[in-house]
Amino acid sequence: MVSTDIETAPAQSLNHVSSRNRAIASLAQHDTRSGLPELNDEVPLIGLIDLDLLDRLFLELNTGFDVSGMTLHAVACKAAPIKSLLQRYASMGAGCEVASKGELELALTSGFSPARIVFDSPAKTRAELKRTLELGVSMNIDNVEELDRVDQILSDLDDPGSRKSTSVIGLRINPQTGSGEIEALSTASRTSKFGFGLADPGSRAAIIQAYLDRPWLSQIHVHSGSQGLTLRHAADGISQVVALAQEINDRSSRQRGTVKQITRIDIGGGLAVNFSGDAITPSFADYRQELEALVPELFNFDLVTEFGRALLAKAGTIVTRVEYVKTAGDRKIAVTHAGVQVATRTAYAPDDWPLRILPFDSEGRPKLQGDSAAHDIAGPACFAGDLLARDRMLPLLKSGDIVAVPETGAYYFSNHFSYNLLPRTPIYGYFGDDEQCYVQIRRGQTTDEVLAEASA
Ligand SMILES: Cc1ncc(COP(=O)(O)O)c(C=O)c1O
Repeated sequence: MVSTDIETAPAQSLNHVSSRNRAIASLAQHDTRSGLPELNDEVPLIGLIDLDLLDRLFLELNTGFDVSGMTLHAVACKAAPIKSLLQRYASMGAGCEVASKGELELALTSGFSPARIVFDSPAKTRAELKRTLELGVSMNIDNVEELDRVDQILSDLDDPGSRKSTSVIGLRINPQTGSGEIEALSTASRTSKFGFGLADPGSRAAIIQAYLDRPWLSQIHVHSGSQGLTLRHAADGISQVVALAQEINDRSSRQRGTVKQITRIDIGGGLAVNFSGDAITPSFADYRQELEALVPELFNFDLVTEFGRALLAKAGTIVTRVEYVKTAGDRKIAVTHAGVQVATRTAYAPDDWPLRILPFDSEGRPKLQGDSAAHDIAGPACFAGDLLARDRMLPLLKSGDIVAVPETGAYYFSNHFSYNLLPRTPIYGYFGDDEQCYVQIRRGQTTDEVLAEASA
């Protein structure tokens, strides 16, 4: 049995905890002036985003990493492909990392200039490569066949002797340093589907030759994985790639007198998030320190970062009404409206993606005291594994109570799963200290829209 989720938050994080509590109370009490919807039969589930925290985390990334002023912090679109959030990042000077045609177009319409977008998909089609190169979007090439295609497209685009594309182009390297705790998110295993394996026989020499043959390759990329990766593991992968970049630069300067062929290192994202409490740790500054200690040469290059989860997870909360409470065996089961449609990873891989459950009464007051019991927190979908939490010790829940699920700002609202025709979750943002304000971030799906999707 997992112990209760009610915890005493460390002092430095009380701000975002009390903001979250206020937003939940406004929602529960349906303050009509707030602009928040009522949590009712029509809308029994909504997402909340703490916009102040989102801004603060981006600022912390900037202060944690910027050394030369040449760092491009490209927010990973996949974590939250939501236009108003991307527009907010664009206005703060961020870039955007994309991995599909849809994400690329969303980034462009959200206000990122092509030079601030990085395209990373492992399955780029010819048409996507051509558009990327014509636009001048940066890209990381995943494999040898993709490199051949880029050679071809560039030679079609360019006049002899003059480059037309302004894209900054690199190869994605898999340092093959091994998996982290979550296999499905580990991209540095020996057989990962991503990038050029660095440790495979003959591979290092082939990668170096590929750079020497193509002076326009001026970037190198590594992303060893996401959640479940220690700072040291990520830093190890980066140090291998920095050593490789230095070797390529030494060789190209000897061969051609080029001062520095590789000028930019893209270190990917992957900073892990604390899903077991309110503390925001490790911080971007912690990661920077680890990198300074292990691979100080990294900071001689321009940098790209591609963080998603560490920028967004802590800012998001799923809020749902408890529809029924029942008992089966010795277990209390709180049936809510938040399940696999909004927490797909948690429903299918609960051990990898445990979430906290914060109980509130129907007025939005935290339920901190009283008798407690082991609960399952169930979703609305028709399969037995549709649970947000199992065997969780919580104050006794009853129908009409509210359940909040923090740490869900990244990869939850983006992973909508339309099983049972459950609609996409509406999202509202909140900001402000004394007087909290609310804005709609994304509309929920209406029943008509769900029907249209099923009928097209
Ligand atoms: C290439 C690449 N960059 C960045 C990210 C973002 O990772 P995170 O959200 O863990 O920071 C991912 C995640 O899948 C990725 O594959």
